[in-house]
Amino acid sequence: MGRVQGKKVFITGGAQGLGACFGRMLADEGARVALTDINQAGAAETAAAINKTHDNAAIAIKHDVTNKADWESALATTAEAFGGIDVLINNAGIGTAGSIESETYENWRRTQEIDVDSIFIGTQLAMPYLKQEKSASIINISSVAGLIADGMMLSYNAAKAAVWMMSKSIALHCARSGYDIRCNSVHPVFTRTPIIDPLIQMGGGGDEGEKRLVQQIPWKRLAEPEDVGYAILYLASDESRYITAAEFKIDGGITAQ
Ligand SMILES: NC(=O)c1ccc[n+]([C@@H]2O[C@H](COP(=O)([O-])OP(=O)(O)OC[C@H]3O[C@@H](n4cnc5c(N)ncnc54)[C@H](O)[C@@H]3O)[C@@H](O)[C@H]2O)c1
Repeated sequence: MGRVQGKKVFITGGAQGLGACFGRMLADEGARVALTDINQAGAAETAAAINKTHDNAAIAIKHDVTNKADWESALATTAEAFGGIDVLINNAGIGTAGSIESETYENWRRTQEIDVDSIFIGTQLAMPYLKQEKSASIINISSVAGLIADGMMLSYNAAKAAVWMMSKSIALHCARSGYDIRCNSVHPVFTRTPIIDPLIQMGGGGDEGEKRLVQQIPWKRLAEPEDVGYAILYLASDESRYITAAEFKIDGGITAQ
C-alpha cells in the first residue's frame, strides 16, 4: 500500500515544475491525480508520462484558475473520473518583480488574481466535494516570500502572505464546523523550476545567477522540487491527520535568520 493509496487529488498548475513533481510523487504512492493547467499540452504530457508507469492514475484538464466556470467544470470532471476529490493542492502561481515605485497596478492586480483570488474561488467551489470525504486535505502553496519580504517583490510578498493567512482561516472554519478537512500552507525557498529563471537572469544568469540565490540560503543549495514534494506527500496522507492551520517551511533555514 502506498502512503496516499486511493487518494483523489486535484492539483492546479500541474503541467510543469512543482505541480508536475507533486503529481508524479503522489501517483508513485498510490494516488490518482488530476493535473490542471492553463497549459493544456504540458498537463497532458505530464499525465501521459505518469500513466506509462501507473495505469490511469493521471488525467489532464485545461483550467485557468482565475476563471470560475473553468473551476466548476474541472472539479466536476475530476469528481466524476475519480469518484470524488479528497485532496486539493492550490499550486498554480506566477512570480513577479517590482518595488512600490516600479510596480504597475496591472501587474499587482494580475498577481493577486492568479496567486490569491484563484484560491478563494477554487477552494470555495471545492468545499462541497471535500465535505463528502473522510480525511480531506487542502494544501496551499505559498512561499518564503509570504513570511519574509524583499524590496523588489511587492506584489508577490503581498500575495503569498495572503495565502498563508487564508490557509489558517480556512483551517479554523473547517475544524470549528466539525468538517474532516485540514488546511495547511507550504513555503518553499528558491526551488529549481522555470519560475526562478528570471531571478537567475537578474543575478547575471547561469552558475553566477544561481550562486547569488544560493548565497541567501543557509543550507547552501537550491531546493529541488522533490524536497517540497515530500512535504506534500505527508500533508496529503493520513499521516498528517492532526495537522491543520500549520505552515511548512521548506526553506533551507532562510527564514530563521
Ligand atoms: N520554484 C520556486 O522557487 C517557488 C518558491 C516558492 C513558491 N513557489 C510557488 O510554487 C507554485 C508552483 O510554481 P513552480 O515553481 O512550479 O512554477 P512554474 O512556473 O514552473 O509552474 C507554474 C504553473 O502554473 C501554471 N499557471 C500559471 N498561471 C495559471 C493560471 N492562470 N491558471 C492555471 N495555471 C496557471 C503555469 O502554466 C505552470 O504550469 C507557485 O505558486 C509558486 O509561486 C515556487
